[in-house]
Amino acid sequence: MVTEATPKIKHIIAIASGKGGVGKSTTAVNLALALIEQQLQVGLLDADIYGPNQPFMLGVAQQKPQSSDSKTLEPIRAHGIQTMSIGYLIDRDTPMIWRGPMASNALQRLFRDTNWHDLDYLIIDLPPGTGDIQLSLAQKISLTGAVIVTTPQEVALLDIRKAIGMFLQVKVPILGVVENMSTHICSHCGQQDEIFGVGGGARITEEYQIPLLGSLPLDKRIREQSDQGVPVFNAQPKGLIAEVYREIAIKLIARVSEQKHTHISFPKIVIEDK
Ligand SMILES: Nc1ncnc2c1ncn2[C@@H]1O[C@H](COP(=O)(O)OP(=O)(O)OP(=O)(O)O)[C@@H](O)[C@H]1O
Ligand SMILES: [Mg+2]
Repeated sequence: MVTEATPKIKHIIAIASGKGGVGKSTTAVNLALALIEQQLQVGLLDADIYGPNQPFMLGVAQQKPQSSDSKTLEPIRAHGIQTMSIGYLIDRDTPMIWRGPMASNALQRLFRDTNWHDLDYLIIDLPPGTGDIQLSLAQKISLTGAVIVTTPQEVALLDIRKAIGMFLQVKVPILGVVENMSTHICSHCGQQDEIFGVGGGARITEEYQIPLLGSLPLDKRIREQSDQGVPVFNAQPKGLIAEVYREIAIKLIARVSEQKHTHISFPKIVIEDK
């Protein structure tokens, strides 16, 4: 028996930020779900080699990827997303003490050795910063573009300028900015507070002429549901937060269609059963 497979990925989108903890992983997961709702095939690669969070956020931390040929790994399906993370392959409590080049290699192998099944979008959830991992990914993987996540305050914006600068330097288009934790609405009295300041995302979009894809409030349900392994987009698909992610996905699709066509063909894999 000879089975042939030509897995393809149409668009690869990196979710990045200069600063840690601004909501990249949360954005990556919920954006992936919003893209699935648009009838697209979506993959999610957790590029955080040192602190992989995706398996927990997706509620599949106990699963282990299977391999049918001892060379490639089958992605773990979670909420309809094809996912891969180093977190599936290591013990939860093992610290990742890897030097930069080792971590970059591990990430590239994870990307290449996963048996992605005909993806419209592969979302790559990057670790924070502009170090080796981010740079080598931007250089070695043919990215369609990057989405930058920021919180509105000035400190996060200083870091974001570095991240934007890095992508521009390696000629990866910035597709848009997502402003996260932009306002806080009190769950008791409904009062709206700008805890992290106002308008940071808009300032960046003006300065660099990059569209603002959407602004998400600081809302404890986002954290609570993420901790329970059910991302907010699926937990409350009719809610306001899901609506913002839906708009982000639709704007992203439009931005991608404006880009020069990218199409990555993997080498043809032939599996022979003699
Ligand atoms: N809009 C929001 N409202 C409330 N909590 C949020 C929001 N966005 C993210 N969080 C919570 O903030 C924490 C950090 O978010 P997340 O892990 O997505 O950030 P990150 O940028 O990926 O972090 P890291 O840089 O460590 O990878 C998580 O506990 C998440 O549930
Ligand atoms: Mg993260």
